[in-house]
Amino acid sequence: MLSVVNSATLEGIDAYEVKVEVDLGRGLPSFNIVGLPDTAIKESRERVEAAIRNSGFDFPVKRITVNLAPAGIKKEGAIFDLPIAIGILSSSKKVIKKDVKGWVILGELSLNGEVRPIKGILSVCLYFRKKRIKGLIIPYENLFEAKVVEGVKVYPVKNLIDACKIINGEKVEYEEEEREIFEDENYDVDFLDVKGQILAKKAIEVAVSGGHNIIFIGPPGAGKTLLARRIPTILPEMTLEEAIQTTRIYSVSGLLPKGIGLLRKRPFRSPHHTISDVALIGGGTHPKPGEVSLAHNGVLFLDELPEFSRKVLESLRIPLEDRVVTISRVNSTITYPANFMLVASMNPCPCGFLGHPEKECTCTPNQVLKYRKKISGPLLDRIDIQVEVPALKYEELSVDENYSSSKMRERVKKARQIQLERFKKEKFFTNSMIPTNKIERYCKIDEKAKKILEFAFKKFSFSLRVYDRLIRIARTIADLDEREIINEEDIATAIQFRFLDKPVI
Ligand SMILES: Nc1ncnc2c1ncn2[C@@H]1O[C@H](COP(=O)(O)OP(=O)(O)O)[C@@H](O)[C@H]1O
Ligand SMILES: [Mg+2]
Repeated sequence: MLSVVNSATLEGIDAYEVKVEVDLGRGLPSFNIVGLPDTAIKESRERVEAAIRNSGFDFPVKRITVNLAPAGIKKEGAIFDLPIAIGILSSSKKVIKKDVKGWVILGELSLNGEVRPIKGILSVCLYFRKKRIKGLIIPYENLFEAKVVEGVKVYPVKNLIDACKIINGEKVEYEEEEREIFEDENYDVDFLDVKGQILAKKAIEVAVSGGHNIIFIGPPGAGKTLLARRIPTILPEMTLEEAIQTTRIYSVSGLLPKGIGLLRKRPFRSPHHTISDVALIGGGTHPKPGEVSLAHNGVLFLDELPEFSRKVLESLRIPLEDRVVTISRVNSTITYPANFMLVASMNPCPCGFLGHPEKECTCTPNQVLKYRKKISGPLLDRIDIQVEVPALKYEELSVDENYSSSKMRERVKKARQIQLERFKKEKFFTNSMIPTNKIERYCKIDEKAKKILEFAFKKFSFSLRVYDRLIRIARTIADLDEREIINEEDIATAIQFRFLDKPVI
């Protein structure tokens, strides 16, 4: 007897259909799974057999062959336990009397027949949303994710027995907790928590408005981490589309918080500097999204940037440029989205106290240069704003109410609107992306501002590349003030945001 059960697998963050074919044949009793299974699927044999017996059903004494089709896709995980068990029970016709056709079944089994949650249910539901199916039988614990997707019938089950009942047309009811499945979109941090540091807050507002990446330079304890953590609070709210994209990444990584179906807060990821390039970018034998993808639509914070290995820093170039990560596999490639704002921090020098009002810096100018050189080049080229976060002085221990997260977010929103309008015929949409040959068209500068620029160039011997960057930043500063022409103040502020271009004393 042959039965075919529909199921699904993941490739990247996308789901694909898989057919689980189960044949019960004559011959010596055996149980084989074919179709490029990995070790998890081999282990599945043990679980399926135990789960069937422990649910009180007979395990057929037959030659059992399970084929997962198509054979080409590499299938991972224990997703297929439940469909395999259902396929076996359906072939033997004792427990399952109705046709399994039209059902899509996913779930891991425990030895006692309980159905355990799996990764990627959100992507699976999105895939089957428009398909003609009877319904999806999924682990009960994945229900919250499934509920996010409208237009797909979902039957959550807690165990194998209940899954059989549903196929037989019997009712299975669980007492359902009434709860909010969308994550609360309010942040429990605010820029008002950070005292002083007005220049840094301004820089952050400019960075978020114009889509500029940012690095904070300051001694330990100055508040760099404090500031970085609050950046997601002034990014515009995630659209539903963005929220679904980010949630899918967490869903396939198995990182969705329990009971949450949809993430609403923009992610903030701060991997430690000992992270490997695979963990940062994604990949591995069982490919997983990396930190750059977990930060999708949010912030990737690299604290102590010069401490990261050169290889890791190099690997960031492509996602920063393309906003996606592509991972090559033997016969396919996987793409993960990775559109994040890069926020970094560093000490001004190896000892951390260069320019500190009280503490003495013990580094030689050469050591400082060497330290800064570590992050120069292609990566630093993608970080427009470099702002100093100095140690707080006692007099600065006050908070400027104008720099609350809600006020900053309002101004950011306006500045983004101006840019959308300005670039509506272009392929880019923020000031940070204005190509060099269009700078003159979009960034008109008044005479006084030109004088300041000339002066700064002579004094600091800036390069032409720095010139472009200064103008782009000044463009955003003027937008925040709702002015079309860039003035001297905008330029002066922009120069303050190029800390690393200034010579080391
Ligand atoms: N500007 C500030 N306002 C309020 N608290 C601050 C400020 N700067 C530092 N702190 C306090 O000092 C601690 C260390 O700050 P942190 O952001 O970790 O410093 P950094 O990352 O620059 O080393 C914070 O947890 C906070 O309690
Ligand atoms: Mg810190």
